[in-house]
Amino acid sequence: MSEEKITMPVSGDEQAVASEARRSFLRKSVAVAGGAVMAGTVAGRAAAEPLAIPPTNKMLGRGVVSVPYGMPSKFEAHVVRRNVEWLTPDTIASISFTPLQDLEGIITPAGLHFERYHGGAVDIDPATHRLVVHGLVDKPMIFTVDDLKRMPQTSGVWFMECPANGAMEWRGVQMDSLQFTHGMISCSEWVGVSLLDLMKAVGVKKDATWFYGEGADGSGLQRSIPLPGAKDQFGKPIPDADKIYKDIIIAYAQNGEALRPENGYPIRIVVPGTEANLSVKHLRRIKFTNKPLVTYQETRHYTDGMPDGRFRQYTLINETNSVVTFPCPDKKLSGKGAYEIRGLAWSGRGKVKAVDVSVDGGKTWKEAKLVDPVLSKCLTRFIFPWEWDGKETLVMSRAMDETGYVQPTLRQLREVRGTNSIYHKNSIQTWKITANGEVKNVQIENL
Ligand code: CO
Repeated sequence: MSEEKITMPVSGDEQAVASEARRSFLRKSVAVAGGAVMAGTVAGRAAAEPLAIPPTNKMLGRGVVSVPYGMPSKFEAHVVRRNVEWLTPDTIASISFTPLQDLEGIITPAGLHFERYHGGAVDIDPATHRLVVHGLVDKPMIFTVDDLKRMPQTSGVWFMECPANGAMEWRGVQMDSLQFTHGMISCSEWVGVSLLDLMKAVGVKKDATWFYGEGADGSGLQRSIPLPGAKDQFGKPIPDADKIYKDIIIAYAQNGEALRPENGYPIRIVVPGTEANLSVKHLRRIKFTNKPLVTYQETRHYTDGMPDGRFRQYTLINETNSVVTFPCPDKKLSGKGAYEIRGLAWSGRGKVKAVDVSVDGGKTWKEAKLVDPVLSKCLTRFIFPWEWDGKETLVMSRAMDETGYVQPTLRQLREVRGTNSIYHKNSIQTWKITANGEVKNVQIENL
């Protein structure tokens, strides 16, 4: 890629979007005292007669270890990852989507974590796997997986989001499904070794301003990850390079067990809050450098096409985003009455501070209640009690994070980014509830 085709990561444009959105947030947001919007929803019915005795009360069930590794109920068989067949030529360099519409809380079961491969998932024997750490270091070292497990352990609950989440919706509505509009995000407890401890072990030299990770998969995936003082190949500083590296871990476990092969077994990088492509799976090499590698994955992929035909590079942080997960196109309403609108919010810069919900297409907004725990760079749940009158309704959410950044509308985002982008689409999502309770994906022009 030639120099004139690349523009630098401009945090300024995102900040302009953010400040307009922030003014709008403060003007329209109606703070609700104590967070209680209205009395709790009761959806049961009066108990008029005794419950019938079910067949399961009259039989013996399965014994222990009849299923040595437990699986979901057979009645939950619809809760699976799905892919969009036309999106990629094959399933080897492709993506699958997490069924957000069927998940509760903030943790994504490992088996439902979205998949993104550039060369397919591979099975690697941890006994023979090695990680080499070299480059601008005093002492190049090779680590076994057991070596890494003996080092000080650290962990965090962080979302993992492909920056292409929402990519199919830039130019207009395309997917009538929450799973496909937002399912390139998952959230796990990740456990491993702090990058800072690894840096100490090898004695990283002062002039190291980048490192790159390389995977042991068929694509040999490589990504450059900035350290404090990082500059791009043209000498421009990388925004937030002093923040991104602090939380980085080399993970060997996810949600209590070893990483799944789909998530980089036996070890991967986890770079909390950033585009998931940085979190190199099946990690075999870390090299400390004083410049970015400018790999295929950071030129052909993961750059942002701007309206003037140029591309932004090294836009790494996934900005504040949110989506209503109920109701949604995958979960329609069964009739008018009381409901909780529920959803997810997240920010790659820290904690979610507040979420507003609108049920009139963005004319008025009310503050939703955030559900504990509210953690940094982690999915956060919000709920909003609501009475549906059976009429057509436009439902949306907008999140603000602890830095004051407010999720933009699609118009605000397009004003800065145009429609040539693939990545980092974090605009407000609108669902239209029709009179029969079905839910459609819509985009409101001029909002
Ligand atoms: Co980016």
